[in-house]
Amino acid sequence: MEDFIYDKDEAGIVTVTMDMQGQGANTMNARFEPGMRAICDRLEAEEGLTGVVFASAKSTFFAGGDLNDILATTEVTQETFDFIEANKATYRRLERLPVPVVAAINGAALGGGYELCLACNHRIVVDNRKAVVGLPEVTLGLLPGAGGVVRMVAKLGLEVALGYLLEGKQAGPEEALKVGMVDQIVPMQDDLILAAKDWIKANPDSHTQPWDQKGFRYPGGDALHPKVRQMIMASSAMLTKKTRGLLPAPEKILDVAVNSMRMNFDAALRMETRRFIGLMASKESKAAISTFFFGMQAIKSGKVRPEGQPWKAGNATVIGAGMMGSGIAYAHAKRGLATRLMDTDLAKAERGKGYSETLCAKAVDRGRMDEAAAKVLLDNIMPTTENAASGTVDIVIEAVFEDIDLKDRVIAETWPMLSEGGIYGSNTSTLPISILAESCPDPSRFIGLHFFSPVDKMKVVEIIMGQKTSQDTLRRAYDYAQQIGYMPIVVNDSRGFFTSRVFGTFMDEGCQLLVDGMPPSAIERAAWIAGMPVGPLQVFDEVSLILGQKVRKTHEALDKRLGVASGFGAHNTATVAVTDPMIEMGRGGRQYGGGFYDYDSEGNRTLWSGLSQFARGNGEVPIKDAVDRILYRQAIETLRCLDEGVLNTEVEANLGGIFAIGFPAHTGGGIQFIRGEGVDAFAARARELADLYGDRFAVPDEMYDRLREPSVQAA
Ligand code: NAI
Repeated sequence: MEDFIYDKDEAGIVTVTMDMQGQGANTMNARFEPGMRAICDRLEAEEGLTGVVFASAKSTFFAGGDLNDILATTEVTQETFDFIEANKATYRRLERLPVPVVAAINGAALGGGYELCLACNHRIVVDNRKAVVGLPEVTLGLLPGAGGVVRMVAKLGLEVALGYLLEGKQAGPEEALKVGMVDQIVPMQDDLILAAKDWIKANPDSHTQPWDQKGFRYPGGDALHPKVRQMIMASSAMLTKKTRGLLPAPEKILDVAVNSMRMNFDAALRMETRRFIGLMASKESKAAISTFFFGMQAIKSGKVRPEGQPWKAGNATVIGAGMMGSGIAYAHAKRGLATRLMDTDLAKAERGKGYSETLCAKAVDRGRMDEAAAKVLLDNIMPTTENAASGTVDIVIEAVFEDIDLKDRVIAETWPMLSEGGIYGSNTSTLPISILAESCPDPSRFIGLHFFSPVDKMKVVEIIMGQKTSQDTLRRAYDYAQQIGYMPIVVNDSRGFFTSRVFGTFMDEGCQLLVDGMPPSAIERAAWIAGMPVGPLQVFDEVSLILGQKVRKTHEALDKRLGVASGFGAHNTATVAVTDPMIEMGRGGRQYGGGFYDYDSEGNRTLWSGLSQFARGNGEVPIKDAVDRILYRQAIETLRCLDEGVLNTEVEANLGGIFAIGFPAHTGGGIQFIRGEGVDAFAARARELADLYGDRFAVPDEMYDRLREPSVQAA
């Protein structure tokens, strides 16, 4: 069997069907370029050639570059440059054939696959929503390196092209036709080749690309056109605002896109190669590929899920229709999971459903949902005050007040509702799952299901295994999370689980910087530079200082009750030193009228002038140190969680950190951040920070050992 099947018909049209052997999709693997080169040789020598059709024998057209190869590239050399140029050269030869070349797109054509389509003279796509086209390289920290940037701009003009290049957006057939990414749609797959050949026969002279024609002009104007010049300036400002300069890929894409218009086509292609190989070895692309591609794939495909039959909850009961319970009920209803929403009185339960009503009304208003869909969604939520009949509910989730005695009582009272094979989850944010499990008759079916606020936006669930939770319950919890479209992150029971532990270190480091004398505005700025969505002082205000104190006291009380020293928040000494007195001064957080910030009647924030009283240091923390402290603190705590077995896999550590607590995405997550810096370089810097700022940065060297091995996805 061959990778490329070559078939010439009586009319002189050659159909090249790509069928990369030994793999489910066509990719730009090591055999691709030699194979394409041989095809080009043959086509150029073919007697009586009248046209060429590129087709695929797989269910997709072409999946693009081989990410394993890119991930393995740590250094770029002349060889890397030559390899990319050789790949590109085949596309260039194709578009210079003296006959029309058509792409017959039967399924997804992404990255290198769509770049091949761009090098054809005509693109026909089958009318199937899975047949998407696009250049998603930016989402992997890369740029399209097979002529994608240069040809997109030449074909669509800068403005339209940038929309797709900078976002990595994929377009279905209709959209692709509208913007010009494809030229024709056919209804059925069987029509594709025929339509391609018909087009060739009707357009025998359409074999020169617009950019190879004399007098070629960029659609929408070239780089000197006043409108385009203005757009270039605005795009670069918008990009910096969005990425804070933390992501090299979109910057390079913009650079290549703009400059390609200022130079000769072949020189532009070479520049694209240079920028591409620069990104290939960057830590940002390693981070994006490891975490967002392979990591996400590992979670989606259930690599970290216990083996066994897939499970689907047929119905649910959420107990507590407060902020979290209402959000969970909405998440269920949106995915068609019928949910009883229980509270102590009906008005509260109905108010809980009201949350979904508001979200639906907004969606309808904005044209994102129609009335009928809203009704179907809302009909899935049944407000109630009563237990369901015994043995009828597949998944029960309690989200009542964070009070251990109340939860104990509620769990015992509502347990009988569970169906055979049903599971019981608690949304507690702090209470140990193994302790709550003692209130139920079968702790093996009890598990933590920690959602985040606001539930409709934060699409991740921290699944917490109690000591006695069974693998079977975990499997069901995992499937349940995916059933409602949430990302499951599995952790073992520990005080603060994983997410709250790490998040606590972020907020504490904000307080530590304050105590060290750094001006509060500089602290928030350092967090912004580091890539955190919100500064630690503002976060403290939103979460509320009082809640933070309450959590701490809950753990102290638990320690006392159990006669243990859990060490929860042991390193978070500055939090106590700063927030306890602030609470006493009436500064409990935003909802209490003010905290680290003062708020005016319109909700505008200004930092509270009284914060200077907490400064004990000399105020000379360099911004670089502050940025590192914010990132290192969290990365070290993540590493501790991995070391202690609270986290099972690096993938979950990385994705959980990014999605649940906003650890900067460009790093690829806490553990990938350590890998990106280089384990030894990270260890050395952590030692330096420990010497300068305290033991919380001190990490036993053995803890790094697991990272000295190459990353194993989901292991
Ligand atoms: P909330 O105060 O908004 O709602 C609690 C609801 O439980 C109230 O509607 C209350 O009437 C109801 N309730 C109390 N006793 C009940 C009973 N015996 N039967 C039925 N309903 C009862 O609280 P929130 O913020 O929704 O938190 C709920 C749980 O979720 C807590 O365990 C909390 O720690 C946890 N959590 C909270 C997060 C947050 O950001 N607020 C984030 C993640 C977890």
